[in-house]
Amino acid sequence: MNYQEILNKGSEILKLNNIKTFNLDSEILLSSALKIDRSRLILNLDKKISNREKFFFLNFIERRKKNEPIAYIIGFKEFWKNKFIVNKNTLIPRSDTEILVEQILKEINIDSAKKILDIGTGSGCIILSILNERRKCTGVGIDISKNAIKLAKYNAKIQHIKNRIKFFNSNIDNFCRDKYDVIVSNPPYIELNKFFGLDKDVKNHEPKSALSGGIDGYSKIRLVIEKSSILIKENGKLFLEVGFNQIKGTLKILKLNGFYNNKVVKDLAKKNRCIISTKI
Ligand SMILES: C[S@@+](CC[C@H](N)C(=O)[O-])C[C@H]1O[C@@H](n2cnc3c(N)ncnc32)[C@H](O)[C@@H]1O
Repeated sequence: MNYQEILNKGSEILKLNNIKTFNLDSEILLSSALKIDRSRLILNLDKKISNREKFFFLNFIERRKKNEPIAYIIGFKEFWKNKFIVNKNTLIPRSDTEILVEQILKEINIDSAKKILDIGTGSGCIILSILNERRKCTGVGIDISKNAIKLAKYNAKIQHIKNRIKFFNSNIDNFCRDKYDVIVSNPPYIELNKFFGLDKDVKNHEPKSALSGGIDGYSKIRLVIEKSSILIKENGKLFLEVGFNQIKGTLKILKLNGFYNNKVVKDLAKKNRCIISTKI
């Protein structure tokens, strides 16, 4: 069997199992099984596949057919300017979250040495992306998930920024170490009645603790803001990602906790998602 034939077979299985992006997914999974990039795959479609490669590919297809996200199968996700290793213990970094990174980089001069806290760091994608671009800054990432922290540490190691970052496995509720110039968080914010309507890829595979914001969706947002008001320096900046329908509610909580709203930024779908505020 050649690459083209096995590719078609993969697409067909995924299509039969209602995976909408069947052609693209089959290509990505075959490239991963062959350990080559997609452009090389396309240039070598008439090459014969080995039994070992075929075995890996068909195993990937079996997993994808059950809605397992591509990033978990191939083991990484590109975010900002790097590849982040991911597994079922961490949320898969979303491109909308790159807006938080972009806004923070606008705020921090290239030469300034700010102390940054990332609450609910997951794979470490936000804090590591910032530290990669601001070489004098230092960071702390915390997460309630021990396994997420393990992965964030690994990502820091392979990106060679181990020396400027510390990761702690802690509930934000109990965290009281130091004061920060900048705090960032993409907290879990899905409300209970929306959770069951999420795509199968998300609700059946990504960690519920990374998604669920309790009954009204605000339980973690509230907690993050309350704790940030203690952990942030005066005039420090808080950057938050929330659901598009949570802007008004979040602004209220921020005001109650002594934050002044600087601006609200839209995501890639032009929906208000990111709030930047200052502790006064
Ligand atoms: C939406 S995910 C964000 C992950 C990553 N920052 C990103 O943007 O891809 C939220 C993260 O918050 C963590 N988390 C949930 N509750 C927490 C708590 N009480 N204290 C600390 N971390 C928490 C979850 O384990 C999860 O990794």
